[in-house]
Amino acid sequence: MADLFPPRIDMETPSIARMYDYLLGGKDNFESDRKACEELAAGIPELVSFANDNRAFLGRAVEYVCSRGVDQFLDLGAGLPTTDNTHQVAQRADPGARVLYVDHDPIVLAHGRALLGENGTTAFLLADIRDPGPILSSPEAIDLLDFDRPVCVMLVSLLHCLPDDSDPFGMVRSLMKRLAPGSAVIYSHIVSDDHEAAAWMTEKILGFGTPWGRVRSPEEASRAFEGLELVSPWLDDRDEGPRTVDCSTWRHEDRPPVFRPEEPSVKRWELAGVAFKP
Ligand SMILES: C[S@@+](CC[C@H](N)C(=O)[O-])C[C@H]1O[C@@H](n2cnc3c(N)ncnc32)[C@H](O)[C@@H]1O
Repeated sequence: MADLFPPRIDMETPSIARMYDYLLGGKDNFESDRKACEELAAGIPELVSFANDNRAFLGRAVEYVCSRGVDQFLDLGAGLPTTDNTHQVAQRADPGARVLYVDHDPIVLAHGRALLGENGTTAFLLADIRDPGPILSSPEAIDLLDFDRPVCVMLVSLLHCLPDDSDPFGMVRSLMKRLAPGSAVIYSHIVSDDHEAAAWMTEKILGFGTPWGRVRSPEEASRAFEGLELVSPWLDDRDEGPRTVDCSTWRHEDRPPVFRPEEPSVKRWELAGVAFKP
């Protein structure tokens, strides 16, 4: 499928994958991406820690899902390679763990293949997750993943990239229907409980000409978990408080889970959770 997409890279329009790379301290970004991040950071001073906290959540969540015996990962909207990529975290726990990385940005495919290589346990696919059917039936998925066994679908910092008219939550439902019981979802989504703060960030990113969705409310973003069983966000598995929390506090050693950042001036956060298909 990858060969159907010409590797065209538009250096003038900021790309979400390259902006995120810049925020994480990476080098695979252009002037347009850096400028866009600086403009966003002017209104969202916590932007860099926002990105780093999300990435750290991804690592803790992959470790947790491995500890529950899942050894296959479909990392949708995977982003550019960075430290502790999904297969590195998963293969520390289980050397046989398999990861299919999927992204629609050609730079992710190019750098992913060049930096991480592809072997019998990882592969990259250039595809748009708005249409998951061709991803599941791709030769890459069929070679790597056994869909008769549980698969962990990763939707980390991804669904806010999709506008409402592409029905992101319908996509999650139809994807989960096709997976075996015991499959998992690792999920985070930029949310806000302040209408103006949500609209500011959404309008800013769309104003760059970058394809994006929107900042949603926590209630809207939680729709990704419909029909699934959310796990405790506490390291000791206690059944207390909300199960979707600020990503920086999900099963964190030193931070008790909180629904939203306690600092009132922080008006946007990544709502995060991990759930299993019964
Ligand atoms: C903010 S990054 C998140 C990267 C990684 N999941 C993480 O959380 O560390 C969002 C990624 O989703 C990708 N993306 C956005 N819309 C997509 C789509 N429709 N299909 C596939 N990938 C998409 C972007 O290219 C970008 O790499």
